[in-house]
Amino acid sequence: MTRPFVWGVATSAFQIEGARREDGKGESIWDRFADAGRLRDLGDLAPDHYHRLEEDLDLLGGLGVDAYRFSTAWTRVVPDGDGEVNAAGIDFYRRLTDEMVQRGIQPYLTLYHWDLPQALQEKGGWRSRHTIDAFARYTRIMAESLGDRVAGWITQNEPWVSAFIGHRDGVFAPGLTDWETALVAGHNLLLSHGRAAGAIRDVDPEARVGIALDCRPSRPADEGSAAANRYFDGFRNRWFFDPVFGLGYPEDMVAEYTERGHLPAGLDDLVRDGDLDEIATPIDFLGVNYYTTLTISSQNEESDEPEGPVGPGPPSGFTEMGWRNDPLGLRDFLARVTHDYDPSSIVVTENGASYGDAPDVSNRVEDNRRIEYLDQHIDATLSARDEGVPVDGYFVWSLLDNLEWVAGFSQRFGLVWVNQQTGERIPKDSYYWFRDRIRATRT
Ligand code: FCB
Repeated sequence: MTRPFVWGVATSAFQIEGARREDGKGESIWDRFADAGRLRDLGDLAPDHYHRLEEDLDLLGGLGVDAYRFSTAWTRVVPDGDGEVNAAGIDFYRRLTDEMVQRGIQPYLTLYHWDLPQALQEKGGWRSRHTIDAFARYTRIMAESLGDRVAGWITQNEPWVSAFIGHRDGVFAPGLTDWETALVAGHNLLLSHGRAAGAIRDVDPEARVGIALDCRPSRPADEGSAAANRYFDGFRNRWFFDPVFGLGYPEDMVAEYTERGHLPAGLDDLVRDGDLDEIATPIDFLGVNYYTTLTISSQNEESDEPEGPVGPGPPSGFTEMGWRNDPLGLRDFLARVTHDYDPSSIVVTENGASYGDAPDVSNRVEDNRRIEYLDQHIDATLSARDEGVPVDGYFVWSLLDNLEWVAGFSQRFGLVWVNQQTGERIPKDSYYWFRDRIRATRT
């Protein structure tokens, strides 16, 4: 029997919902960041999906996707993270998922897409194991409320980004700048994944549970850069993939981090008895978020990526995020993950491109560069599948132009163009193209 392939699109709560202070929603670390002026645009201007639910569901229906990956805002459901439950928050997600199911669209629910309750940040955030317990409780509430309809659970989204961009670089919320804190946060994020997987299965032993890991496959710039490239791969990829698949933290990286003073007492700083087993709780699918690859040289062992988005008019072969278009990197990474970790199933949980093409006088958005990017990456995914990689789904990032974190609205990833003043939606050419591409696979 051939394995079914799931076509979908993805979004996240903070990036699309708006309604940041409505119906009992609590403050998240991203609300705090926005109000402190750390984003180019304020989160109030997000596409207002909260009030435009029907319209967005119709857009999903028109696309003909099998599945929709969205995230639930922890602060809508448990406004202060570990206290009272806000029934209005659960109702919103119940309505969303009910309507999806009625339209034949499978819900893929991400529990954590970076928007930690601010009240928990004040109790230590991801530095503290209390946050893991609070996350497990919130997870259980979601599983009890929506478990009957969720087709795929995603515990954590991109723990590398939460840990390092949020706690080492200070660029994302909560804006901390300490190496060791980033490693502790990363460990607690991974542990929270294992604990949440257990909580979901306690409620529903049949549930399908995964995690969405981001990746940056890399290659050495020259022969002399092999060691730097190995270091980068350990830092950026293996540090998260290895423990999820039961290999523990990579030994070469533990040695490097100890020597560099990031983990002064080695793993003793981080790991307690039982942690690694909990992190390695078996998953039903591995989510891979893929955008680009990097070239690493011994002069720059962390990245050849630009500091921030490059904006309009990127060089050919690059997106406006400054990310190189490298579809074969996706195919190779899927093959590598299969070889190294033997996952039972992989889903590309995010892939997409930022291009700012706007409506012309007839309200048409000709986003040919996005179409080309997606077409090549879908081909890469399907060719990996043909070669025996167990990849069973592909989700475009994103349904709508949305609030791209600190870059605000300057980066547009949507299949649907959004007017940030009025909220008006206009499907781009890529929307119709993706619809037709999905249809073609069904005939
Ligand atoms: C990923 C995030 C997603 C979006 C894309 C462009 O790192 O998971 O929210 O910002 O990048």
